Amino acid sequence: MRKVALVTGSSRGIGRSIALRLAKDGFVVAVNYRKREEEAKKTVKAIKEIGGEAEHFKADVSKEDEVERMFDEIEERLGKVSVLVNNAGWGLLTPIIQMDVGLWDRHINVNLRSVFLCTRRALPYMIESGWGRIINITSIAGLIGLGGLAAYSAAKAGIIGFTKALAQELKGTGITVNAVASGFAKTKMGLSFFEAQNIPPEEWASKWTLTGKLLEPDEIAEVVSFLVSEKASNITGQVIVIDSGTTVIGSAAFFNR
Ligand SMILES: NC(=O)c1ccc[n+]([C@@H]2O[C@H](COP(=O)([O-])OP(=O)(O)OC[C@H]3O[C@@H](n4cnc5c(N)ncnc54)[C@H](OP(=O)(O)O)[C@@H]3O)[C@@H](O)[C@H]2O)c1
Repeated sequence: MRKVALVTGSSRGIGRSIALRLAKDGFVVAVNYRKREEEAKKTVKAIKEIGGEAEHFKADVSKEDEVERMFDEIEERLGKVSVLVNNAGWGLLTPIIQMDVGLWDRHINVNLRSVFLCTRRALPYMIESGWGRIINITSIAGLIGLGGLAAYSAAKAGIIGFTKALAQELKGTGITVNAVASGFAKTKMGLSFFEAQNIPPEEWASKWTLTGKLLEPDEIAEVVSFLVSEKASNITGQVIVIDSGTTVIGSAAFFNR
């Protein structure tokens, strides 16, 4: 029986790349989306075109009842989930002084509560079967903090703590839990931060990356594919950073003066 992988927020962007990559690796893929059904269908179509198996499932993963229903539907139509990629995320540039409680809660719920809800629902089968992979997509915002994105940074830092703690809880179960911290990638969300500030992304990348380039979503997918594979069975509780060198740019500036 082929294993089932759920990729939350895979109607576009990094999630879509991960869904396609895992389909190429032989997983049956559950494509989750919140509202863009046409985009989710495009992900499913792209998977079917390469000979893979996939279906799309609507759910706002920040909501408990929707997560429960989505898992029930996945189990009915595809089977139980062995690989969970918590990718769905959202962020809006907002200084804390202008942030109302609703906007704060939305950041925490979409980025962090969703990870808890999906993980808790997926775990019993992974434990029972003695094998599982959980990959949480976080951000360099959770490592270094990004001004204007404090709520997002807090949620993404929360994912890192959750990942490390859960890996310990799952000692000896055959389940690994890791986080992938992305730098700025060429997606709707990644580019929106540059648009909002009227900064040409290429100009920013030439100053604030070591490689001079923003990330391609496929580059994140490649690392997720490795973490899911048997080759990575001894990697757990880790944060893999893929960021064009952005988080060490301060040191580079210091030593290259
Ligand atoms: N792009 C970057 O530069 C960057 C950098 C660091 C980390 N990340 C992280 O990488 C992940 C993917 O980002 P992206 O750039 O690919 O974003 P994106 O292009 O905006 O895509 C976001 C995806 O998440 C889904 N989504 C949003 N809220 C959801 C919810 N409540 N329930 C279910 N699905 C939901 C969207 O579905 P709908 O279209 O149906 O709404 C969409 O498929 C996020 O966790 C993000 O924080 C991105």
